[in-house]
Amino acid sequence: MSFKKVQLSELSFNPFKLIGKDWMLLTGGSSDNYNTMTASWGQLGVLWNKDVLTCYIRPNRYTFEFVENNEYFTASFFGEQYRQALSFCGSHSGRDCDKAKEAGITPAALDGCTGFEEADMVLVCKKLYSYDMKAESFISDDNLTEKFYSSDPYHRAFIAEITAVYVRE
Ligand SMILES: Cc1cc2nc3c(=O)[nH]c(=O)nc-3n(C[C@H](O)[C@H](O)[C@H](O)COP(=O)(O)O)c2cc1C
Repeated sequence: MSFKKVQLSELSFNPFKLIGKDWMLLTGGSSDNYNTMTASWGQLGVLWNKDVLTCYIRPNRYTFEFVENNEYFTASFFGEQYRQALSFCGSHSGRDCDKAKEAGITPAALDGCTGFEEADMVLVCKKLYSYDMKAESFISDDNLTEKFYSSDPYHRAFIAEITAVYVRE
């Protein structure tokens, strides 16, 4: 594995593509006890004068426990050749299998967290704030509650400071 640490200001990407189309792996825990899942919802931006990533995890995900119980988590981004691996991690639970092994990706210890050797970029994120989404907070529902929450639980949002950025050399 060979990652180098860079500054966020050195990067240039389209966050709508990066998160929404390419997807990411959200990973909580240290490399000997972690879980990871695919996510395609989230934001990158600025809050409280800090560079932050916000992500949304339903509490029934196994990954939820790892993100909830650790101060830090990571967001790993991959090239198109890992689409299959991300699809696998987004449709299987770490409760039932060794996802990384089955998906053919390799956990990598980074700042006490877990990223993946095959990732093009890993953001190390320190949780600052979390809140639960709820039905009564929708201002304009637009059928979103019915579409996304009729059978699945509401997401918990995690707003996290990006404390380090690693890119593969
Ligand atoms: C493309 C894609 C995007 C996803 N985005 C999210 C998300 O943003 N939040 C979420 O809670 N689940 C999301 N999921 C679902 C989880 O990845 C999926 O339920 C996964 O199997 C959970 O694994 P775990 O139980 O090991 O945590 C997504 C799945 C896919 C395929």
